[in-house]
Amino acid sequence: MAMTRPRQATELARMENLVKVFRTPKGSLVACDHISLRLEQGTSLGLVGESGSGKTTLVRILLMLERPTSGRVWLNGVEVTRLSERRLKPHRRLIQFVAQDPYSSLFPNLTVGQNIMEPLRVHKVGRAQERMQRAMELMERVGLSTYHFYAYPHELSGGQQQRVAIARALALSPQAVVLDEAVSSLDVSVQAQILNLLQQLKDEMGLTYLFISHNLAVIRLLCEMTAVMYMGRIVEYGKTDDVLHSPSHPYTRSLIASIPSFTDRGVTPLPDLSSLAGERPSPLRLPPGCAYQTRCPLVSERCRAERPELREVASGQCVACHHA
Ligand SMILES: Nc1ncnc2c1ncn2[C@@H]1O[C@H](COP(=O)(O)OP(=O)(O)OP(=O)(O)O)[C@@H](O)[C@H]1O
Ligand code: SF4
Ligand SMILES: [Mg+2]
Repeated sequence: MAMTRPRQATELARMENLVKVFRTPKGSLVACDHISLRLEQGTSLGLVGESGSGKTTLVRILLMLERPTSGRVWLNGVEVTRLSERRLKPHRRLIQFVAQDPYSSLFPNLTVGQNIMEPLRVHKVGRAQERMQRAMELMERVGLSTYHFYAYPHELSGGQQQRVAIARALALSPQAVVLDEAVSSLDVSVQAQILNLLQQLKDEMGLTYLFISHNLAVIRLLCEMTAVMYMGRIVEYGKTDDVLHSPSHPYTRSLIASIPSFTDRGVTPLPDLSSLAGERPSPLRLPPGCAYQTRCPLVSERCRAERPELREVASGQCVACHHA
């Protein structure tokens, strides 16, 4: 596929032909359908798509929280897909995770400091005093007063809780951080503060993000590359500026059109993606051919018969559409 080239020096992670099928009482559901993506050191990737498009499933596979049905994942050139749980452990440190809801992602009965030190404890890094020192440094780094070290998560605001979650994600000095809708549960003004913090950490620490969001404007702030998902498939991929300013896939175009203030710089309100025209097919009964055919203004007979593969339409910009 167009997006997986031979491994280069800067390649941090590579996902190749990932498929994830969930067996449900109502039938098989393909949450990830032959997905290939690369994450390069220092080049953040935004993953955008409607609810149920498979974003979280994909990153759970990358984070080794879920095994794919088929396909492979490499981290720093090591294929991790087939490693045993014990041999996976050192690789888990490389990519850390920040979830959407900070409160439920933190341990409520541990203090802020203990939450941040938890990954260090699990991976047996440093002595107690060193862990404490590291947690204090991280708190300062993410803009939290060390005064909160002995506070419990419920005593903090949502923004402060997300700062704790970010500090905890950074504790093991990962190369990459996966952020799954990490700002969407926060008030708009707090969102902006957390996005600024993420930008600052990225610049200072050379972090690479895989940033999931429904909001293309948020992705534009942080990610050099963007992948658009629809019903378990990547439908468009390329440089964020290219994808946003000259989208090739009809779905990407409708996503962009659904954000009224998209051309303004900065954070815009979340678009209501449910307002997109046409009906979404059931993930349990995808039609043959293109999954977007039920909503696409350009649909043709070919689209109903033949599945469009991802192909390069401009330098580095790939799209899965017969009529792009
Ligand atoms: N453990 C599971 N068992 C069965 N189906 C699942 C499971 N996890 C996810 N799914 C289904 O897989 C599809 C993709 O889900 P996923 O959570 O990856 O989507 P998403 O893009 O992250 O959505 P959202 O934006 O709402 O978080 C959905 O149809 C979902 O219902
Ligand atoms: S392949 Fe056809 S149905 Fe699918 S997005 Fe392209 S034009 Fe629309
Ligand atoms: Mg999700």
